[in-house]
Amino acid sequence: MIPDSCLHIRGLSDDRIHSFLSLAASIKRDPQKYSQTLKGKTVLQFFVENSTRTRMSFEAATRKLGGTSVAFAAASSSLQKGESLLDTIQTLCQYGIDGIVMRHSSGGSPEFVSQAVSVPVINAGDGQHEHPTQALLDAFTLLEHWKVSDFRGKTIVIVGDILHSRVARSNIHLLARLGAKVILCAPQTLLPSDLSLFPAVEIEHRLDSVLGQVDAIMALRIQFERQDDSLIPSKREYRNFWGLTVERMAALKKDTVVLHPGPMNRGLEIDPEVADSARSLILKQVENGVWLRASVLAQLIGGVKP
Ligand code: NCD
Repeated sequence: MIPDSCLHIRGLSDDRIHSFLSLAASIKRDPQKYSQTLKGKTVLQFFVENSTRTRMSFEAATRKLGGTSVAFAAASSSLQKGESLLDTIQTLCQYGIDGIVMRHSSGGSPEFVSQAVSVPVINAGDGQHEHPTQALLDAFTLLEHWKVSDFRGKTIVIVGDILHSRVARSNIHLLARLGAKVILCAPQTLLPSDLSLFPAVEIEHRLDSVLGQVDAIMALRIQFERQDDSLIPSKREYRNFWGLTVERMAALKKDTVVLHPGPMNRGLEIDPEVADSARSLILKQVENGVWLRASVLAQLIGGVKP
């Protein structure tokens, strides 16, 4: 039997999404109750791309559930000698692994690996494709903040480098599934050319046009490592048109909240005063990442039934 994995939001049923969100809330309320859920289980943290939050939160979540993490050091591994991804993974599986958390620069690689192994695979970000647990923790954070069970009646704008963002792709699917009206805001050069694979979203090139109508703003990092300079005219001009500046913060509705998956380019896509303001849920997102990821690990690897 193919084990249950978490590869992309599209592949998760509504029931599964709700059970990930509700178990995260239960674990957050009473972590002690779940402290032995992964006892005797080993989770391979297979990160072949840089990460701070995602990796640390998966490790922390594994520990909170009483499991053991083994971290794969990609830079000093035989991947550098040309060993294939599958040979590497299949080798590591011989050491007794109960699940794989995987980040890779190649879109689709967690799905590819999941077809070759007999343990659950959790996508921790694959290229420009998806980052399902980030979208789930963002949704968890907003639902908790608003004390609601879905996003009907809410408008959320995702602003910034949508073209390169797996966070945006997962969020577009998840926010729409939970009933939000989703607006994408970016210069044309930072939008995917084909949006037909996404659920209905509105496109707005001018951030100033939407500020007064949104309930949440999700700012994205400009991913310089995935592009050359030609996609934005200059950093200063980008900030002038699409930056979440102090002036723009003043134009938001009183209770509009601000999210950013991190890491941030402070002073470019978001001003420090905005990131550190009372509207900001950015550190809440980081904290909730542990509970949400614990929920995913508990269900897929610990066998906890929703
Ligand atoms: C994001 C990622 O790696 O996709 N960060 C994260 O996981 N918190 C976004 C980014 O790198 O900009």
